[in-house]
Amino acid sequence: MFWGSCVGRGALLDFVSRLSGKAIISSDITDADLRDVDMESLVASVIDRYQDSASKILGRKELEEIMVGMTMKKEPMQIEVIRSNDFKPAAKDIEPEYRARDVRVERTSSSVTDFVDYFQDRFARLREILRSYGTGFGGVVNSIESVKGYMSGRDLAVVGMVYDKVVTAKGNVMINLEDESGTVKVLFMKPSRKTKDEQNELYDSASKLMKDDVIAVKGKTWNSLIIANRMLWPDVPLHQQARSEEDVAIALLSDVHVGHKLFMQKQFGKFLEWINGSVDNRKDLAEKIKYLVVAGDLVDGIGIYPDQDSELAIDDIYKQYSVFFDFMQSIPDYIEVFVIPGNHDAVQRAEPQPKVGNGFLKDFKRENVHMMTNPCYLNLHGVKILAYHGTSLDSVIRSIPGCSYGEPTTAMKEILKRRHLSPIYGGNIVVPSKNDALVINEVPDILHMGHIHKNGYDAYHGTLLINSGTWQGRTGYQIKQGHVPSPGLLPIYEARSAKISVMDFNEM
Ligand SMILES: [Fe+2]
Repeated sequence: MFWGSCVGRGALLDFVSRLSGKAIISSDITDADLRDVDMESLVASVIDRYQDSASKILGRKELEEIMVGMTMKKEPMQIEVIRSNDFKPAAKDIEPEYRARDVRVERTSSSVTDFVDYFQDRFARLREILRSYGTGFGGVVNSIESVKGYMSGRDLAVVGMVYDKVVTAKGNVMINLEDESGTVKVLFMKPSRKTKDEQNELYDSASKLMKDDVIAVKGKTWNSLIIANRMLWPDVPLHQQARSEEDVAIALLSDVHVGHKLFMQKQFGKFLEWINGSVDNRKDLAEKIKYLVVAGDLVDGIGIYPDQDSELAIDDIYKQYSVFFDFMQSIPDYIEVFVIPGNHDAVQRAEPQPKVGNGFLKDFKRENVHMMTNPCYLNLHGVKILAYHGTSLDSVIRSIPGCSYGEPTTAMKEILKRRHLSPIYGGNIVVPSKNDALVINEVPDILHMGHIHKNGYDAYHGTLLINSGTWQGRTGYQIKQGHVPSPGLLPIYEARSAKISVMDFNEM
């Protein structure tokens, strides 16, 4: 069946009408394939391909080829930002009130001893968090070695790191849990249909356990096993989200990817015009912006993935940063800007990552633009923000049931529950330092990430989870993987009312 009977699809309808019969669209192409595509260029490319072709049928495979080819044609352009003369932003008259804390970035030789120290520190920090919930979990925490001598049936509580996990033939979850004293097997029984909600919840939590997770378990001994009846993640405690007294707003963005052919210069240019008061759309919101946080992938970089060269509009890393900092130059100077690197930036790949070096800033020097580490902790007018690029989201999404690229906040919740920004060891590269800077040691009001190019908003235990998406169009890689990004959307948090608004620069 070919398209024609599929009425009611927005992008698909638009595509068909613009093609006006110059190609026949196969039914395996859906609306989702055409989302966030530069429609004008796509139609031109399709017409170009089919004008001398005997077959006029455009299938999904041909569409993918054309889209990948489009990434080769786009040229970078300069963005000229005009400031509006009648823009009188309230934020300009408000004194900035912020504290910004980098994490410690250590260098190690990555020896076996370094990794042992790293995991010991991670365990000690997370155990401390779990122990702080002591009264709610029955008080005493036993060392793992000591419980092995207990008689069967005795109540106990232990804190340990998951060494391994198996699901038994009967569907029970069995883990090996270890602390400095030893290892013990812990069994989470598969609930029967009649069991209560708490037992189902316990089993669901156990099913999501990953190697190296640190947890507290309460249960009873049975021979050499512990039969679990409760489990605690380090987690973030329920808390009231902080608000500012003044009416200021915080804009959050990430994954600009300057230098890639699909960097969306038109939309980013509109954003720069808007923040300068030159666009008549929610000027009331633009006037409140006092802070901007940029969560990494400022540029597309060089040599980040195979054959990246063919997708670059700017193949010089210094030029990529020069364009990015020209954009930062266009941000009004009363807005405090905090910038962290991501996995595409020209700093070490292993996390925590140091701030982008002065060599890339060259002559750029603005007192309101602060280069920070990835991750970093910010307190902006009393609102605590943890900014992290989000490289570990890939391994969390791949490994933990229920997580997906379409809904970044589910994975962000799993990260918060574990109180660790990179919970799955080996999923992305970390520096094995004696101080694990990826442990979430301060509970944030906002956890801000990027990396997977998909916007997402949710709240968990009083912490807002915000993924700020991207300013890059859908790449050939994302088409092949079936990932649909959400470029050109800017989340803004109003700190007095705790309200999130999302500006869509695709429509302006
Ligand atoms: Fe990115």
